[in-house]
Amino acid sequence: MSIKLRLILSNIAMITVPIILFMITSFLLMIVFLGDIREMANFLPESHNYHKTKQEDTLFFLELKEKSAVNPIELLSKEYLESLNSGLSSIDSGLMIRKNDEIFYRTDDLEKVRAEELPVFGTERSFRSLEEIGEQTFAMKQHDFYLQDGSEVSLFLMRDASPWNQFVRTFFPILFGLCLLILIATNGLLAYFVSKSIITPINQLKKAAHFIKTGDLEHSITAVRNDEIGQLTQAFEEMRLQLKQSHEIQKQYEDNRKELIAHISHDLKTPITSIKGYIEGIRDGIADTPEKRTRYIQTIYTKAVDMDHLIDELFLFSKLDLGKIPFEFERIDIKDYLTDYFEELSFDLRKQNVDLHFQFAPQGHYYVSADREKFKRVLANIINNSLKYMDKDKKELIITMHSTDKNVEISIADNGPGIPEESIPFIFNQFYRAEQSRNKLTGGSGLGLSIAKMIIEEHNGLIKLESTLNVGTKITICLPNDTCAGETVL
Ligand SMILES: Nc1ncnc2c1ncn2[C@@H]1O[C@H](COP(=O)(O)OP(=O)(O)OP(=O)(O)O)[C@@H](O)[C@H]1O
Ligand SMILES: [Mg+2]
Repeated sequence: MSIKLRLILSNIAMITVPIILFMITSFLLMIVFLGDIREMANFLPESHNYHKTKQEDTLFFLELKEKSAVNPIELLSKEYLESLNSGLSSIDSGLMIRKNDEIFYRTDDLEKVRAEELPVFGTERSFRSLEEIGEQTFAMKQHDFYLQDGSEVSLFLMRDASPWNQFVRTFFPILFGLCLLILIATNGLLAYFVSKSIITPINQLKKAAHFIKTGDLEHSITAVRNDEIGQLTQAFEEMRLQLKQSHEIQKQYEDNRKELIAHISHDLKTPITSIKGYIEGIRDGIADTPEKRTRYIQTIYTKAVDMDHLIDELFLFSKLDLGKIPFEFERIDIKDYLTDYFEELSFDLRKQNVDLHFQFAPQGHYYVSADREKFKRVLANIINNSLKYMDKDKKELIITMHSTDKNVEISIADNGPGIPEESIPFIFNQFYRAEQSRNKLTGGSGLGLSIAKMIIEEHNGLIKLESTLNVGTKITICLPNDTCAGETVL
């Protein structure tokens, strides 16, 4: 059963059940109180309006009493009794006169009262007492007196006292109708808003889920409220974003994999083709002189070394990529470490006519946590690039280092050809080589800087490149400073 249908049914029940209950209760109340409801007036406090004897009542009754004493015959005359009508209606009462157990006179409103139901002669009473007579309740005053002939006469001044009954009878249909109307309106409005607040976001979720099913991860949904459905919408949206992100990463991996295979096959195919060509040259006697043969063999050797280098880099790259290479971090003083490394390099650099300047503040503390071997690989890749792409006669390498309390920054700058601006954003991508390098005979796979980046990131560091065409290239490595507490950093 759908939530919508369930809500409709429950709301119908919300309307019908109270109505049925209300009707049953009303019916029971009517049965219980029918005829007795008037008794409730007895529970009213004596000071209640209902019981209050008004001054006019008393005066009117006194007048009758006086008349009965002074001139009882006139009291019983038709003219006199009819002259009392206006006075009676002003005090909202009726008059009854009983003579020797017979009704002698009664006003129209007391037509239903029977003589035998009236209190017996000699029971004088005031308006305070309520008397049930037949089906009606009256507040009544009674005055008894004898005529000269000995007849017993009783005067009854009576006021109908069934206000509850009257009230209920008058207002019950209006109240019932009003209650019913309020009940229906409240329930109708409630049902509308509740179902709207549930159904609308559910429909939204259904639509969003449908989009995801069809592979469209761009369709976002926003939670309007923070109720259970709002939280569900929020969770759904987070799931969509996560899914989209992993989808993108998956696609990126897939593209990278395809690109990697294309590059590897290309980079391996080229040297293999030339090796094959040179071997065929030797086999077919094209290299017919010993010098030619030596040259061919030397070229084959160089190509094989290139391939070896490429396979090595590929191997390292894929192991780094898969996170399968263990790092042995130790706290090293990078100043001493670099001094030793450049010392090792100095022979090669002199041979290539390169001036190396290593600048740092001697009193500084340059401690980092690093893997010695891997970090050497990073430096080698960067410095090899500087040497490989250098196009000036006076070659220069400037290494500067400075530390803050958070980081140690090492910059390696050369005065080489520089890199075109449009290539810089891609320079750390695997297999990326700037167009100018492709045409050169420098060789290289385009993996050197991506390997350097991966290693530096494993060190929780950052690597960036700045370059100006025809001026030079500067690579900056930033590593977290591992200076112990208490050591001063300048
Ligand atoms: N110091 C530099 N001066 C000029 N160009 C540079 C320099 N360093 C890097 N490059 C450019 O960046 C590209 C990428 O360098 P990277 O070291 O990743 O690859 P590679 O040197 O081509 O090959 P590999 O290092 O794998 O043998 C190079 O092809 C080159 O175009
Ligand atoms: Mg390189």
